Amino acid sequence: MPKDIKILVGTMTGTAELCAEEMCDSLEEAGYTAEMTLMDGLDADVFEADNAYIICTSTYGHGDVPDNAKQLYESLQTKKPALAGIPYGVFALGDITHGETYCWGGINFDKVLTELKATRLGEISQHDATSGELPEDQAGEWAVEWAKLLDG
Ligand SMILES: Cc1cc2nc3c(=O)[nH]c(=O)nc-3n(C[C@H](O)[C@H](O)[C@H](O)COP(=O)(O)O)c2cc1C
Repeated sequence: MPKDIKILVGTMTGTAELCAEEMCDSLEEAGYTAEMTLMDGLDADVFEADNAYIICTSTYGHGDVPDNAKQLYESLQTKKPALAGIPYGVFALGDITHGETYCWGGINFDKVLTELKATRLGEISQHDATSGELPEDQAGEWAVEWAKLLDG
């Protein structure tokens, strides 16, 4: 049985939410069970052993997570839950013109989840807002490839 996939969304202006909606549709079409939740109000307790997680987040400020992701991000750092064996993936939105902080929102989540011993499947998918590629197209295609790693 494939795990249920929970997509946690950090966004300021809705692009990551659009990407998560597309991921849900693509994953459901491919036979997976997926649901998305905005990170607003979430804390580290959202991670449960039986699920798989996609962190879908943009980047703001100087490489910060979006405002609606801050509580979850900080909660992971302070509560330090044991996440061993929980699979996750990261879809990071950013803008290459921000230089060294490119996609740091997603990269920062990856760092803390790795520290908590969760298992990242595949590489972080980075979307550059200046690339001309629609973020939701990249997200939908990436999510299905990522989910195949759950079966393997
Ligand atoms: C004020 C501001 C600051 C930003 N800072 C960064 C940054 O440090 N690094 C980065 O890669 N992208 C940065 N971005 C780009 C956004 O992450 C990118 O446009 C993303 O697609 C927005 O997604 P959202 O609508 O889901 O929030 C910034 C954008 C704005 C408007």
